[in-house]
This record gives sequence, C-alpha cells and structure tokens, in this order.
Amino acid sequence: MCGIVGYVGGKNAQNFLISGLKRLEYRGYDSAGIVTLAEDGSSTLIRAKGKIVNLEEKLAKSKREDTIGIGHTRWATHGEPSETNAHPHQAGHLFLVHNGIIENYKDLKRTIKNHEFKSETDTEVLAALINSFYQDGKHPLMNAVVQALKLVKGTYGIAVVSELSPKEIVVARSGSPLVIGVGHDETFIASDASALVGHTKQAIYLNDGEVARVTSESIEIKTLRSEPVSAKVEEIETSLSAIQKGGYDHFLLKEIMDQPESLTETLRGRVNVKDGVVHLGGPGLSEAELRKIKHLIIVGCGTAYHAGVLAGYYIEKFAPEVTIETVIASEYRYREAYIPRDSVALIVSQSGETADTLACLREIKKQGIKTIGIVNVIGSTIAREVDGGTYVHVGPEISVASTKAFTSQVISMVMFGLTIAQAKGVKTSILRPYVEEIAKLPAEIKKVLDVNKDLIKEIAKKYKGYEHAIYLGRGTAYPTAMEGALKLKEISYIDANAYAFGELKHGPLALIDNRFFEVALLPEGELYEKAVSNVQEVLARGGKIIAVTNVDKFDLEVEDVVKITTPLKIFTPILMNLISQLFAYYMTVAIGYNVDQPRNLAKSVTVE
Ligand code: AGP
Repeated sequence: MCGIVGYVGGKNAQNFLISGLKRLEYRGYDSAGIVTLAEDGSSTLIRAKGKIVNLEEKLAKSKREDTIGIGHTRWATHGEPSETNAHPHQAGHLFLVHNGIIENYKDLKRTIKNHEFKSETDTEVLAALINSFYQDGKHPLMNAVVQALKLVKGTYGIAVVSELSPKEIVVARSGSPLVIGVGHDETFIASDASALVGHTKQAIYLNDGEVARVTSESIEIKTLRSEPVSAKVEEIETSLSAIQKGGYDHFLLKEIMDQPESLTETLRGRVNVKDGVVHLGGPGLSEAELRKIKHLIIVGCGTAYHAGVLAGYYIEKFAPEVTIETVIASEYRYREAYIPRDSVALIVSQSGETADTLACLREIKKQGIKTIGIVNVIGSTIAREVDGGTYVHVGPEISVASTKAFTSQVISMVMFGLTIAQAKGVKTSILRPYVEEIAKLPAEIKKVLDVNKDLIKEIAKKYKGYEHAIYLGRGTAYPTAMEGALKLKEISYIDANAYAFGELKHGPLALIDNRFFEVALLPEGELYEKAVSNVQEVLARGGKIIAVTNVDKFDLEVEDVVKITTPLKIFTPILMNLISQLFAYYMTVAIGYNVDQPRNLAKSVTVE
C-alpha cells in the first residue's frame, strides 16, 4: 500500500521525510515524492519513479533547510508508475498526498474548472477539488479540505500543505490509516507508525471521518461535520518490525488475516447485489465481444495457476457454451497449441513479472487472441502488455507464499466469467447466487479466520513430525486441495501433494501409510457422499485424516475435524483454503523455518 509522511517543527523536513519513507518501503511502492515549504512559502517538489534512492539522487541537487513538508510512496492504483503520477500532486498553491481510492473521481473531475490536469490519478482530482474550495487562501485550508471530502466516495488517508500557510499540515482519513506523532515543538504525520519510531512514542490515531490541522505546537481535530474531537494520545509500539507486520509475527499471517479487507478492495465498485450483477471496466471488452467468447484460456504459474483452475470450475457452471482450458504457463508456452479464434486468454499473475507467464502472454498475442490481465501489481510488465485487465487490488503481497492474492484472483476471474454470462443473456436468477455470495465473502472470511485461527495452531503442532502429506478434494475442492498442498510444501518443506479423490484408487492410495497424514476438503454438496466413500478408503488403510468441512452432521471417525460454519454454498472452497493457509503457516512456525522467505524461492520468478 502507499505510504504517507509529514513533518512540521524546527528540524530539517527533508531528512525526516526521506527516512520516514524508507521505513515504509516494505509496504511496496513504485514511485515516491516529497514537497517542502520555506518560510516565505516557496515550495520544493521532488518526485521520482522507482525506488527512494532515485528520489534521493534528485534531492541531492535541491537540499533545503525547510522545516515543513509531506512525502509519499505510491503503490499505483490509477495511472501507471511515473514521475507525473507520483505524489505529492499540486493544485494552485496546495500540495496533496493520498492513500486509498477515490471511487467517484471521474464525476468530481468533471466539476472542476480552472485546473489543468497533468496526471491520470484520482489524487490530482482531489487536490484540485480541495483547491476549488480553498480558492488560493480565501478560505482556511482545513475548511477547504472538509468541504471537498464531503463530496468524496471511496477511501482516503491524506496530508495537505499550502505555500500560503507554510506552518500547518491538514490531514484526514476514511478507510486508510493516518497517525499523528506528537513531538516537542514538532509534529509528525505517517500512514504507519513505523515511520515515527525513534522520533516520538506519543501518537494520535485518526478515526474515519476525522480531519486534523497540525502545526509544530498544536493539533486540532474535528469531524467532517465540524464537531470538535478530543485527541486521544497513545503509546506506540517501539519495535519497528512488529509495526511493519501490523503487530503480527510474520507478513504471511498479516496477509492471511488481511483477506477480508483485501477482498473488499477487490470488489470495490464492481458488485451490484441489488441488481444481481457485476461490472468490470478494466477488461475493455464490449458486450458484443463478451457475447462472442466461446473459449477461455487461463494461464498462470503456481498459486496463480491454481486460482485459474478453481475459477474455471466455477465459470463453466454458469457461462453457457464456454469451454475453459487452464494451463501451466511454463508448459503452455512451448506447446504450439492452436487457439480457436473466438477465445480470450486470462493472464493471471500477482507480481505481473513472472517470466513464463509473460512469455505465454506474448505467444498468445502473436496469435491475435485478446489477453486480459488478472494482476495485482499496477503497471507491471504483464499489466502493461495485456489488451485489458482487472487489477485485484490486494495491496503489496510481501510474503513469498501467496495467500490474499489467490482469493482475489479466483473471485476476479469469476466476476469476469459473470460478465460473459451477463452479456450472453444468462438469467439473473442463475447468476444472482454467485453475486450475492461474492458480496458476503469478506465477512465470511473474517468469521472463518477468527473462529479457527487458534484451533489450526494446535492441530498443526500435532502433525509437526510428518514429512509427507496428501491433500484431497473433489470438484471445486480439488484445485483448492492443490493450492493447500502448495502452501504447505513451499514453506514447511513437507512433501505435500494433492490428488482428486477419484484418482486415489488409480495409484496414490498405494502411498498411504503412517508416514503420511491427509487433509480432506469436504464441502457440502452433490459430491460430498462420493468423497466420504473415498475418505473411508483412506481410513481403511490407516490414514490420519484432518477433515475440513461445512457439513453440519459430520460423523466420520477421522483424526481431526475443522468445522466451517457458513451460509455460503458456492464459495466454501475459498473458506476451506483459509484453513490450509493457516495450517501451512502454523506448521512452519512450529517447525521453525523462515515463514516469509522460504529456501530456494523468490516472490517473483522473473527467470525461466
Ligand atoms: C505461491 O505461493 C508461490 N509463491 C508461487 O507459486 C507463485 O504463485 C508463482 O510464482 C506465480 O507468481 P505470480 O502470481 O506473481 O505470477
């Protein structure tokens, strides 16, 4: 996610801004910038694409002794990574940095006069909107910010400064954190307390809907309705690494537990439960083009591939006459396969840089097939080379093991499939259950994680000594089993593999002995009874089974049962995968391996 810093006091602002932005680097970003103001109101704005070191190179030529300023590291959401799109953005005499997404920025942009837009960002629209109320200092900066934010739909954490009042910073938050660091004759601003460590131990965490005006010796907070708010000063955690992991021991657990929020960002502005439809602007396919699709190729590696297999199982259930082929990129790129003309290719990649997936994209484009990216990193190579795309918007995924990206990749592809079905005239009554369950997923994910986290930690300890594991599932639970096995193997180094339940008797059943434990994913549904008989085959051979199920009256004599309670019927595999994610995490913690950087692996496999 983006990072915000600000400083007003007696010391050099540039120094704090740069050191503060470096503290936020772990959050992932693709460009950065700072602006400082001199006492006479003259401003020094420096921005750079790429890493902070690029910003520092520019700064070396513009050293200033200014004592007020704001800074930002940008994780692109609107407009690709570039100096022009980097924050701070200027409008008149004021400068703004922003975390979050302004959903109605296009509508707001149309209302703005007398501002020549230079960037593609929603942030510049917000800066111009604030300026339209500020009117070059005719009104107090804080009032102008309040008036503008009343018109905003979406999420924001912002900091604003003006050349006309170079002693104050105005900040506000709604859905994106903003912390005020209280110093002695100096005040700090940050989107993440890690930037404050070593500067102050006193912090005020703004709440949603609050706006604050800070100077070197005062802090005034009020709501958007101009009601005064009394500042609650709290002690901040002094351990940097604890803060950067949001209080979790590892990024992996943070990212697993972040999934209610990250999926909410994926769905933002795309799901219309009232009408039972979804809307994706990014793919850029017309209704007519969507209607013509007869074949979907879904391309990815590792977790992205598993997401594609699972999404494909769902799409073929509701998209009529659409055949689905999900392929492993490193294989498909050498197959010279013929691609039917009425195909569209979904190119799935969290990083947007995976070499094999990128190579497939280029091969498929050579055949004149439309390519749609299902990507997380904005402006990444794959995101730039596809014909259209849907960003999953889960924020930076730091841990090598992919978790929140998987959940959002599956749902993003299902939503793309729904747009095909909608264009083909599939009755809303058939599609509405998918849309309604998608809308409910974030809350159900939160429930499943909160209820089961401690249970899974205990179960994982029981199986710590095993070196082999088998994950099993039927139907949509089978690609889910594949993903669960990958999670466990890639961080605990346990030899975990997944098999379709129905495949057991064709070979894998021979493996079962006391060296193995099995994880059986058993969602309620038409395949449940068949899966139960497979479980009994494994039990008869001494299998040690951990059953994950949402079936109310589950009575098989297995080793452990993880019961999922949910009203969902369709996306229960997504909820079961959370159990696999937690299990892999706690197993690895119990063993003592490096959870976030497992041996031999990299977060983005940019080599073939
Ligand atoms: C998943 O946990 C792994 N880290 C790995 O399989 C990953 O999914 C794969 O390398 C694809 O990465 P991408 O999504 O960035 O293309």
